[in-house]
Amino acid sequence: PVSLKEAAKNHFKIGVALNERQLNGMDDKALEITKQHFNAIVAENCMKSGRIQPVEGEFVWEHADRFVAFGEENNMEINGHTLIWHSQAPRWFFVDDEGNDVSKEVLIERMRTHINTVVGRYKGRVHTWDVVNETILDDGSWRQSKFYEIIGEDFVKIAFTLAHEADPDARLFYNDYSMAKPGKREGVVKMVSNLQKQGVKIDGIGMQGHVGLDHPSLEEFEKSIQAFAALGLEVLITEMDVSVLPSPSNHQGAEITDTFEYQKEINPYTEGLTKEAEQEFHDRYMDFFRLFDKYSDHITRVTFWGVTDGHSWKNNFPVRGRTDYPLLFDRSYQAKPVVKSIADFLQNP
Ligand code: G3I
Repeated sequence: PVSLKEAAKNHFKIGVALNERQLNGMDDKALEITKQHFNAIVAENCMKSGRIQPVEGEFVWEHADRFVAFGEENNMEINGHTLIWHSQAPRWFFVDDEGNDVSKEVLIERMRTHINTVVGRYKGRVHTWDVVNETILDDGSWRQSKFYEIIGEDFVKIAFTLAHEADPDARLFYNDYSMAKPGKREGVVKMVSNLQKQGVKIDGIGMQGHVGLDHPSLEEFEKSIQAFAALGLEVLITEMDVSVLPSPSNHQGAEITDTFEYQKEINPYTEGLTKEAEQEFHDRYMDFFRLFDKYSDHITRVTFWGVTDGHSWKNNFPVRGRTDYPLLFDRSYQAKPVVKSIADFLQNP
């Protein structure tokens, strides 16, 4: 069977997120699939600040070291995720001993130590960093995170500058979700072009591909690819998965008050997908890959957010214990038909 990375070699890299069990050697089948089909890896969780520096000054390298070693052994592009993110950041980052917010100076110092230490350790080995993650809201305004509240907009510029100083050769990205939304698109373009005007080194924009069967619209997604490419930057499709289940925001505004009821109501596929749903899933991926092919001069990597359906975060979001089928390989580690379709298409677009 033809491998995805081979089929895509004239287009873009094909990446996948690895989790901690896999890096612990508890899931060799997933690593085999990774070696066969992917030429880029991303750390799903083990490089986030809460994981890598859970206590100030105490760095935990175990998983991150294994992640980098695996990529090197297999000649892969190694992508670090993520340096500055409001979520999964440890509380100590923002507060003093009394529990009050730290000053701007202290927070910048903590960012400096964190970024210098993490990027510095893997200098020349981790090829790209998601420097800042998810700081613009869907309407284009700034997320009121602690970074924003304490430092202001400049925290993004500071983060990119520090990362660049720590490894001048690493490619540096901004990464976000819901990028097809017009407000978000405009907000991100505004923020990034401001960075460019100030001479900040930024190499690309990651568009998270957490999509459903019917949202977002391909047209809007395409407009965002165009807008980001027009900035002269690499466009990355990051965190790709196609959920077959309705999302709450897409579910007539349903409120999740009862997990079990919600699960029953919107999760008709606990015993496996229907033929119709399988087909829709397949076609949805193909629509996206046709779009990615069209922009392969700009898109440098397409990354899946997990190896098999069993590994997907979507099984626990927005409520725990759902059964979703968003990825290319099923729970028995078998390639779905869409793998061959994507490979065939990329070889003969
Ligand atoms: O490792 C612990 C385990 O020891 C514990 O028993 C278990 C019980 O809750 O939790 C485990 O940690 C969980 C971790 O995933 C590993 O499974 C965390 O609670 C859970 O919050 C964490 O979720 C991750 C999520 O980011 C939150 O940071 C997902 O795996 C990860 O896929 C997801 O990825 C994010 C991207 O980084 C940014 N974009 C959105 C994307 C999806 O939310």
